Amino acid sequence: MTLQVKLDIEKLRSEIQLKYKEVATTPEKGFHFHTGRPLARMLEYPDAWVDALPKGAVESFAGVGNPFSLGPLPMGATVLDVGSGAGFDSLIAAQQVGSAGRVIGVDMTDEMLAKAAVNARAMGLTNVEFKKGLVEELPLPDASVDVVISNGVINLVPDKEQAYREVYRVLRPGGRIQIADVVVQQEVPQDSKEDISLWTG
Ligand SMILES: C[S@@+](CC[C@H](N)C(=O)[O-])C[C@H]1O[C@@H](n2cnc3c(N)ncnc32)[C@H](O)[C@@H]1O
Repeated sequence: MTLQVKLDIEKLRSEIQLKYKEVATTPEKGFHFHTGRPLARMLEYPDAWVDALPKGAVESFAGVGNPFSLGPLPMGATVLDVGSGAGFDSLIAAQQVGSAGRVIGVDMTDEMLAKAAVNARAMGLTNVEFKKGLVEELPLPDASVDVVISNGVINLVPDKEQAYREVYRVLRPGGRIQIADVVVQQEVPQDSKEDISLWTG
């Protein structure tokens, strides 16, 4: 199915990047969505997990749920975090899979990627890396990961079928997805879908 929305995709991506650049660089500013430690508490991440993360990963956390509530990640697994932001979930995942496992975070916003890399270094984690890329064109080979996690990202992607095609392309047979996202229960009006300010704010 092709995307039935008249939307300037490049403009939408650049507005989303601007918004999440702010979440990375001025997290204290306050946004129309919850962020940081209060959000992590609301989403029932154990305090001990959050305490183990660098301040920079916690303050720019902007998820909408808790992908780990679907179960812990297996030791030794290769995990992809789609839209990894400042690395909050990637860093938790890297600890769960251990040194025999590997975590790859993919995001399109440079400031988030830079902050995530600083956070991983601060924790001395060598089994996690962050790559620039789009959800719609994941920079990973076919059948290369055991688990895909994501938190609050697919709702920002207009072509959700393409996003899930990519997720299933990179998953190994028998792999699994643990995705937290926004679900609508009523059809969103066409003019709202075409209003970029409603995607970002
Ligand atoms: C709501 S934030 C969530 C970040 C992170 N998962 C967390 O829980 O803190 C959304 C993230 O998705 C990224 N993003 C949005 N659309 C994207 C796309 N099409 N491709 C890659 N990254 C995208 C943004 O840059 C941002 O870092």
